[in-house]
Amino acid sequence: MSSIKFDLEIKFGTQYGKEEEEAVLRVLRNNAPTSGDECIRFEKMYADYSGSKHARVVSNGSTALFLSMIGLGVGPGDRVLTTPITWIATAAAPATLGAEVDFVDIDPVTYNIDPAGIEEKLTPNTKAVIPVHLYGQSCEMDEIMALSQKHHFAVVEDAAHAIGAEYKGRKVGTFGATGCFSFHEQKNISTLGEGGIVLTDDDKIFERISLYRSQCTRVHGNSTKYCKLDEEKFPVGKKFWWQDFDDCGYNFRMTDIQAAVGTEQLKKVDHFNQRRIDNAAYLTEALKEVPGLVLPTVRSYNKHVFHLYPVRIDPKEFGMSKEDLIYDLLHKFGIKLGFHYIPLHYSTAFKNRGFKKGQFPHAEKLGEELVTLPINPRQTEEALAYLVKSIKDVRK
Ligand SMILES: Cc1ncc(COP(=O)(O)O)c(C=O)c1O
Repeated sequence: MSSIKFDLEIKFGTQYGKEEEEAVLRVLRNNAPTSGDECIRFEKMYADYSGSKHARVVSNGSTALFLSMIGLGVGPGDRVLTTPITWIATAAAPATLGAEVDFVDIDPVTYNIDPAGIEEKLTPNTKAVIPVHLYGQSCEMDEIMALSQKHHFAVVEDAAHAIGAEYKGRKVGTFGATGCFSFHEQKNISTLGEGGIVLTDDDKIFERISLYRSQCTRVHGNSTKYCKLDEEKFPVGKKFWWQDFDDCGYNFRMTDIQAAVGTEQLKKVDHFNQRRIDNAAYLTEALKEVPGLVLPTVRSYNKHVFHLYPVRIDPKEFGMSKEDLIYDLLHKFGIKLGFHYIPLHYSTAFKNRGFKKGQFPHAEKLGEELVTLPINPRQTEEALAYLVKSIKDVRK
């Protein structure tokens, strides 16, 4: 029972094994350096896995988004659009750089940003749109990329939930100017609790992201002639070399020990995702007859990797409110549901920026009705059956 309970908490989606243990010890015995060869190896593997030209590891998904904004030169006077149904990091990246953030309402079926709502929110200052591949399902990338070409804004994909997810056979995070991933402990793979990566095909954006990640350090010297990014080895030889800083930047690096774990996790990601997909299929089959539950809709051309399993509750048909369901499942059955997310424009941060209830009706309705069920690759059939039975019993 205790392992069932552990698997029925929304926390800790990730799973480590012997391979990760060995990777930690190997790097530890090598003095556990900051960003070095292990990071470069993980970056190369992630870029190859995704089909991207470049990948840069960073300290977390929030810094992946923040550096993407810096890579595009987003700042005061620019406008950035995103969805109100996301974690605050998505909107905080442009907002903390002084850009104006506005939201576009969601598609009420997939819960992702509705491409049909983007055009009317564009102004000449709109520099970027950040679609979020929510819960592990891709946004409508054909429509979003067509709008980006027509109106000349950049697309930054927030793929924090969507490691390994695909849109029409292509990995998410490879459509926009950049793709941002999180390796936080709850994500589909993790690098010891925190971590992230940015993908891009654009050499200039990659260079800016790499520089600002590491305090804008450039190393000059006779034997190297010009600029080597700090994580590359360079032949100093006997000649003089010196360090300069192009600008004031940040330290958003990942450590080698995290990257070594990431490499092992990435080898397993398709297996983990398949377990999530199978567990989601089990839940969908077992819950489909329960009145008042709206189960996830997966577009035929998407590979949804079920970072989360979203369920809408119709309180009249289901017989209880979302709040009562969350409370009763926890207290009577020991099951912890999530509520991803309360619409961002309800937060103090965005109320203080002038947003009001009523502006994004689909997002607001979702916020009232949505819960996320625990889902992770460890879940046994016994744990899933207990979850389903508890949801059915709680209504009695
Ligand atoms: C949609 C989304 N974007 C960005 C992030 C930020 O990632 P991190 O926690 O690694 O900073 C998260 C984290 O939960 C997220 O859910």
